[in-house]
Amino acid sequence: MLQYYGSLLSVIISFVVVKLCHWIYQWWNPKCKGKLPPGSMGFPIIGETFEFMTPSDFSLVVSPYLEKRISRYGSKVFRTSLFGAKVIISTDPDVNMEMAKASSQLGATDSLRRIFGENNVFLQSKEIHKYVRNLTSRFVGPESLKTRLIQDIDFLSQNHVEEGALSGSFDIREAAIKMVGELIAKKVMGEMESEAVKELGLCWSAFRTSWFQFSYNIPGTTVYRFVKARRKAARLLKAVIEKKKASKEGLGDFLDIIFDEMEKDGAALDVDRAVNLIFTFFILSQETTPGVLAAIVKLVADNPNVMEELQREHETIVQNRVDKEAGLTWEEYKSMTFTHMVIKESLRFTSTQPTVHRIPAQDVLIGGYTLPAGWLFFGIPQVHFDEEKYGDPLTFNPWRWKGKDIHSTVSRDYMPFGAGGTLCVGSEFAKLIIATFLHHLSRFRWSLDPKTRVLRRYMLMFPAGCKVHISKDTSSHQ
Ligand code: HEM
Repeated sequence: MLQYYGSLLSVIISFVVVKLCHWIYQWWNPKCKGKLPPGSMGFPIIGETFEFMTPSDFSLVVSPYLEKRISRYGSKVFRTSLFGAKVIISTDPDVNMEMAKASSQLGATDSLRRIFGENNVFLQSKEIHKYVRNLTSRFVGPESLKTRLIQDIDFLSQNHVEEGALSGSFDIREAAIKMVGELIAKKVMGEMESEAVKELGLCWSAFRTSWFQFSYNIPGTTVYRFVKARRKAARLLKAVIEKKKASKEGLGDFLDIIFDEMEKDGAALDVDRAVNLIFTFFILSQETTPGVLAAIVKLVADNPNVMEELQREHETIVQNRVDKEAGLTWEEYKSMTFTHMVIKESLRFTSTQPTVHRIPAQDVLIGGYTLPAGWLFFGIPQVHFDEEKYGDPLTFNPWRWKGKDIHSTVSRDYMPFGAGGTLCVGSEFAKLIIATFLHHLSRFRWSLDPKTRVLRRYMLMFPAGCKVHISKDTSSHQ
């Protein structure tokens, strides 16, 4: 009997070993109908995630991960595995642009899908995607920025910078996160009870860590905390929306547009989609722009000639203002030529992580390779550091944009906001927030805490914060 169980056990073990070897073989040699880009899938499941996610210093514009692979494979396009998914990484600008145009299906890792929800409005069918893009543009496009948002952005950023000046120092990223949160709460939702605002604030804080994780949703993991916070935020938003839908009182501008849409015949928008859209809007605004602003402040602080020129520009704007008590106008914003050059250069310098994310529904033939359906595609704008396109690319030099188109957000050689059908809808909104913050900061004498470091790890990281020491005195600049 014992012998029988012994043989059965060895048969089972052999079967499991054979299956495991087969699975590992398939992991290392993924099937593809055409020619896959060169590369390695790394350890089963883990892939090359840890190397990819190792933070690299801000001054190192090419991550050691990328540098090693590009030189090993002699190709700007390679395959790998990250966060449990099969991934094609491309640093070739032509491939990135072609891919951005070929597919408008936003490619999200599983952890991102869990943050934003499986049924996220930006990850759904082409029609719904187009619809929510248009709807969001109505809120953050140039017309709305000019007529509805600039005054509030100006008022709130001035308050936050002045508050910081009164206390002598403040963390610029934290202040911007708070400011953006307050702005969206007011303009999107309208009046809200202070308890709901507080509770929502707690939910948003759960997302202030790397979004790129293994997607296991088990207690104790970051993804588990994301899912819990998303569900709670969605519940809170839904309660406020339903109450306002019934009363139609105290609506924010965006909620007003949303309710109008819901009432149309055959409306594509219901309460759940509206909640999802607003949630996405809150999270994206708070987690992108404040980080980029903080990185810009670091770049400006490290380059005193840039700081001087910025202060000159904003001093002139304030001096030329007839009514000294009046807020920032759209014309003044548009006249900030040097500030726009600083923002454009900073976006070139800070975006070395993927900006084109796709999951093709069919195999795509690009650059002599097949990008298989269902694989994630990450297009990285390494062209931002191409010596031929940008002479001396490792130098932060806003003047390189002098006389060029400082307002355009996309070209083959410049892709901080992505490209194609998923080009960032919030780019103009983000630029207005950054310029307005810089406008108010430039009225003061300030310096950056020398401990401030910026690391790249998919998103920008500030391990020692981004504290600005600021003097109360604005007189020298008025
Ligand atoms: C400086 C700040 C920002 C940067 C660098 C940035 C970057 C990007 C990039 C690279 C993409 C394209 C992703 C892809 O195609 O794979 C994108 C898409 C998107 N961004 Fe931004 N973004 C910023 C600010 C914002 C803000 C403030 C909002 C809020 C409205 C926003 C909303 C979106 C949305 C909704 C999409 C998806 C568009 C679609 O699927 O059609 N972004 N962003």
